[in-house]
Amino acid sequence: MNKLQRERKDDETVLLINQLKYGVWLLGVTAWLFAIVERIIAVAACTYFSKEIFQTLIICLFLITWLYLQPETNQAPVSLRSSHIISQEYILPYPYLCQIYHLLNLKHLETIHNFSLNNLKINSITQVQTTSQGGIIKFQTSLDSPINALRMWRSKSVEVDLILHNPYTVELSIPVYNQKRMVVLFNVLPLTKNEHYFFIDIYGDLQWWIKPLMKVLLHFAAAITLFEDLPYLRALSERNIENLFHSHKSSSHETMYLYNRYIELCNT
Ligand SMILES: [Fe+2]
Repeated sequence: MNKLQRERKDDETVLLINQLKYGVWLLGVTAWLFAIVERIIAVAACTYFSKEIFQTLIICLFLITWLYLQPETNQAPVSLRSSHIISQEYILPYPYLCQIYHLLNLKHLETIHNFSLNNLKINSITQVQTTSQGGIIKFQTSLDSPINALRMWRSKSVEVDLILHNPYTVELSIPVYNQKRMVVLFNVLPLTKNEHYFFIDIYGDLQWWIKPLMKVLLHFAAAITLFEDLPYLRALSERNIENLFHSHKSSSHETMYLYNRYIELCNT
């Protein structure tokens, strides 16, 4: 069993434990509600109320405490959750490695997304960094066209981060105006050999009055970019994608730094 398989096994175990905790919590809620209903019936049936009312209030207190003990299912940090803008999820009929390869290939932003990103250019790689479960690549981008929809929230030339957090999570972090950033988190979950779940979550600090409009725009933008990616993912699925990751062959191009890092992780 290689490192990736071990990590996937660990993830599945954590998921199972979380589901178990949630199941126990739900069982507890049901039990407390049942006890409250039983005490209310007892109160209604008795002529001497004080003991039953006191017991009902105590059980209500336990129920409220129990509700506060709900196990955490959303693992995102609180600061990130408060800046959540949109989520989308898809089941795609391609092996998950096609999605990973696509996400780690910087150059496809210029070619495949030429329309949606409106002539975005990758000028240079400014920094690369290895982390324990992935890596970070920083690159300078510019918007060639003077009339560009992306100019609404970003400068002409900015340094973008692409982060491989773990073998299933990739983050794209883009600086926007006023020292803020727009964060796009991509999560991939293998479903079968030839299918995978694909989750897109977008985060950003937005004023309350602009958030509804941005939600609509970002839903539209995320759907368009996915639509653009489909022929590319299909083409990748027609190649022997397993070989691309397990053949120990890495790309010499610096834009493929994270892909090379992924291969390194696959083979340790
Ligand atoms: Fe893409």
